[in-house]
Amino acid sequence: MLAGEQGHATQKAMQILVALGKIYDAEKLIRVSSVQVSGVSYKNLGDAGLEFLSELARDGRARVKTTLNPAGMSLTDWESQGIASRFAEKQLQVIDAYEKLGVDISCTCTPYLAGNEPRFGQHLAWGESSAVAYANSVIGARTNREGGPSALAASLTGRTPLYGLHIQESRVPTVAVDVAAQLRTPEDFSAMGYFVGKTLKDGIPYFRGVGRATLEDLKTLSAALASSGGVAMFHIEGLTPESGLGARSLEALAFTRKELVETDSILNDEGTPDFVSVGCPHCSLAELATLAKLLSGRRVKREFWVCCSREVKRQGDEAGYSRLIEESGAKFALDTCMVVAPVEELGYKVVATNSAKACHYLRNAGLKVRFMPLEECVAEATRSG
Ligand code: F3S
Repeated sequence: MLAGEQGHATQKAMQILVALGKIYDAEKLIRVSSVQVSGVSYKNLGDAGLEFLSELARDGRARVKTTLNPAGMSLTDWESQGIASRFAEKQLQVIDAYEKLGVDISCTCTPYLAGNEPRFGQHLAWGESSAVAYANSVIGARTNREGGPSALAASLTGRTPLYGLHIQESRVPTVAVDVAAQLRTPEDFSAMGYFVGKTLKDGIPYFRGVGRATLEDLKTLSAALASSGGVAMFHIEGLTPESGLGARSLEALAFTRKELVETDSILNDEGTPDFVSVGCPHCSLAELATLAKLLSGRRVKREFWVCCSREVKRQGDEAGYSRLIEESGAKFALDTCMVVAPVEELGYKVVATNSAKACHYLRNAGLKVRFMPLEECVAEATRSG
């Protein structure tokens, strides 16, 4: 591959992996079972990214199952989202290049809910930070947090360098977190992830005292830990598959009701929301069920996006949830989300959301944020005046 005998794109991909392997002193390359590519929105890629992709798409082909992170807009309903046609044109060129490369145009940050479900111990090359943390921690698969080019290089070669979280010794906890706060909702897990990520910056936290957690709790915890910090893996005592790696003589951080309340307050700006969005990370079927129940028979009074994958939306259609959600006037934001879409250019000023990760990035984009539970997001969206 490196000699160029298997084409230009494969050679370029192998050059990237060899360079990465040298930087991290990797002993060898290993095969990966799947790839998830981030860096899909034209908002983040720009023309340079599009050019890089188009060049690889001339003769490059994915060698393993490869799925995509959300794009900057719905690929079919971008006009109703208010996306400018120049942006849409460029975004569709990006998608076209990925299609030529043989990548599944799934456009979701929860590939594990939409057909790219790894198994314990499998090696992956995933890019989306929340999915990386979920795959490592909740599933027990092994992946570093790949950048766009290195994930694509893994796809075109089927390989990645052996370093970091692919190695057992790098997966042991580095700090304990004693959870004394009662975590009642996914939003409480999200706030905890935001606090711990912000405090630690990186490392592998080992949570003690959590008790139980749903898929939605773990999904949003993964996202928050990886947004305010660079945490790519965590353990929860008695719950996650590699928590047996232990945390006996570690330094401990406390997460009490005080930190929970303070984090909630840090994530709330002044202002009345003119835009409400849930599904960061993309909604699960259970979240669609809750939304359908909450929105049934009501009308939303302001723009309300429900971000989810096409696969979970399809399941929601079958279960009858999607119809109830859409009848309220809420819109499904498929293929995209409130962060990677150019929401700041659509004229909104204050966004209400139930995701600490979304608050973090929306604020960085210059918007004001209000962090609230899913039920309150619905109340806010349906409130008159
Ligand atoms: Fe997914 Fe967008 Fe949040 S990619 S994790 S919904 S910022």
